[in-house]
Amino acid sequence: MTPILTVEHLGKGFVLHGQGGLALSVMRDLSLELHPGECLVLAGPSGIGKSTLLKILYGNYLAGEGRIRLHFGDGPLSLTELPAHAWHALRRDVIGYVSQFLRVVPRVSAREVVMEPLLARGADAAEARVRAETLLARLNLPERLWSLPPGTFSGGEQQRVNIARGFIGEHPLLLLDEPTASLDAANRAVVVELIHEAKARGTAMLGIFHDEDVRERVADRLLPLESFMAPSLAPAAQPSTSRGLPHA
Ligand SMILES: Nc1ncnc2c1ncn2[C@@H]1O[C@H](COP(=O)(O)OP(=O)(O)OP(=O)(O)O)[C@@H](O)[C@H]1O
Ligand SMILES: [Mg+2]
Repeated sequence: MTPILTVEHLGKGFVLHGQGGLALSVMRDLSLELHPGECLVLAGPSGIGKSTLLKILYGNYLAGEGRIRLHFGDGPLSLTELPAHAWHALRRDVIGYVSQFLRVVPRVSAREVVMEPLLARGADAAEARVRAETLLARLNLPERLWSLPPGTFSGGEQQRVNIARGFIGEHPLLLLDEPTASLDAANRAVVVELIHEAKARGTAMLGIFHDEDVRERVADRLLPLESFMAPSLAPAAQPSTSRGLPHA
């Protein structure tokens, strides 16, 4: 089967301008393939570069070295060479992202935050509203909160709005950065269900899950990032536990 995403020899470092231009190398020579319908889980200790990898794939950070290709639509698309203006349509139609924290926009209600990815594609507003409310109800967000801006919501409530917004668009590729971190067991179970449903639709997912139980239930493969650490970080790393899941 053709992968939807291939990453070849990816390297990334940061230059810390506030520290006299100190260069911090995070990862090197990282390669992976991701297929439709599978969930690949990034593993490794804090600071290893898991979120950095997702941010590169979403175009928030530039890759330092290597090549990233998306096999979708008319053929392979090189993300490492994609012009800035093309990212908007790619995020609208192909790559979804559930970040760890919701970016709150003042005065925009939770319902509208969730509807927005569908409206951006020109979907019918009434239909988008029904789909948003269905997801918010599944994620147990009390109905009285739907018409309020999420700025004052609890961490777990904001995270559920974020998850609903991430899943509503049914993007072919979904990046998940600790979507269950602030959730209770009942809502973690809903997220696991949403992930299984997305897999069944053929969605490819790349995710970070600190909760080992969630990880075991959703991961088809684990990718331990220790092997791709830049040498300066290598001695500090601890091997990750996998409990028998196949490694990428
Ligand atoms: N914009 C940035 N500028 C400078 N350094 C950065 C930047 N973003 C990330 N880093 C550094 O890159 C390294 C990897 O960070 P990253 O957030 O990817 O780790 P992580 O594996 O997601 O950790 P955690 O499990 O704690 O979320 C860290 O040392 C971090 O300080
Ligand atoms: Mg992180």
